[in-house]
Amino acid sequence: MQEYLEEHVNLKVWDKTVPITREQLFKELEDVEGFITSGVKVNEELLRQAPKLRVVSTISVGYNHFDLEAMNTYGVIGTHTPYVLDDTVADLVISLMLSAARRIPELDAMTKRGDWKKGNAEQSFGVDVHHQKLGIIGMGRIGEKIAQRALFGFDMEVSYFNRNRKYEVEKKLNIKALPMDDLLKESDFIVLLVPLTSETKQLIGEREFILMKKSAIFINASRGQTVDEQALINALKTNEILAAGLDVYEQEPIDPNNPLLKMENVVTLPHIGSATLKTRNAMAMVAAKNIVAALLGEGSFYQVK
Ligand code: DGY
Repeated sequence: MQEYLEEHVNLKVWDKTVPITREQLFKELEDVEGFITSGVKVNEELLRQAPKLRVVSTISVGYNHFDLEAMNTYGVIGTHTPYVLDDTVADLVISLMLSAARRIPELDAMTKRGDWKKGNAEQSFGVDVHHQKLGIIGMGRIGEKIAQRALFGFDMEVSYFNRNRKYEVEKKLNIKALPMDDLLKESDFIVLLVPLTSETKQLIGEREFILMKKSAIFINASRGQTVDEQALINALKTNEILAAGLDVYEQEPIDPNNPLLKMENVVTLPHIGSATLKTRNAMAMVAAKNIVAALLGEGSFYQVK
């Protein structure tokens, strides 16, 4: 990535081991036209400090850290990195489903501390993934990859809810669209994959958890704020649902005192959906190409809207 950028633009890089402070970042941005980041809030406050800025390229598919209205006002283009991470994130979602259903982290810890349960000890039983019903909320590219894995790898019955029907995907994969409430009521596994917007903020809350089966396993690999986290904690505590697999949280990094971290029926990951070396390198390369194309006006780039 760095080599490619150096071939095309004058580059400065924050390569210190400590994260850059907001003040230092503002200072560095005073004279730049392009900015590559992943997760730094790009809002009016930042844009005011960067009078020459024309393009911000995020090394992520999600871009909820962009204030698009402010960027528009300041004439700054935003770009992101779709496609290259779809399979990797789908793999992670399936692993969260399997881990939560078969209680992998809990049983791993139990085995390692020498607490082996003999014979058919029911304390170690999990639930099946294969042949169960999977409901996907948010049928984008990653949703489709998850559906493929669930259908062809695990013989699951897959349904989805999406703001707009995806007729092509329905036909290709033979999956059905359901109204959200029906999906919540019928699914054994519910995977949330919507981008974070004002419409999807706290999309899943107390009402939605009550609608789910008591045996439901809830997976969130989108953004933490798409869920009312307190409602999730309550639903898990009161056995309103069986378990959860989480890659994202309302606050990141998660507060070490968050009750989710103490629950055995919750599998927690540190927002690593796309984190394999190969995929992260591919995302960095797409981000680099995006910024070069947008700055130099050559070729296409993945602009966010
Ligand atoms: C993204 O790219 O938005 C993902 O959340 C990274 O894991």
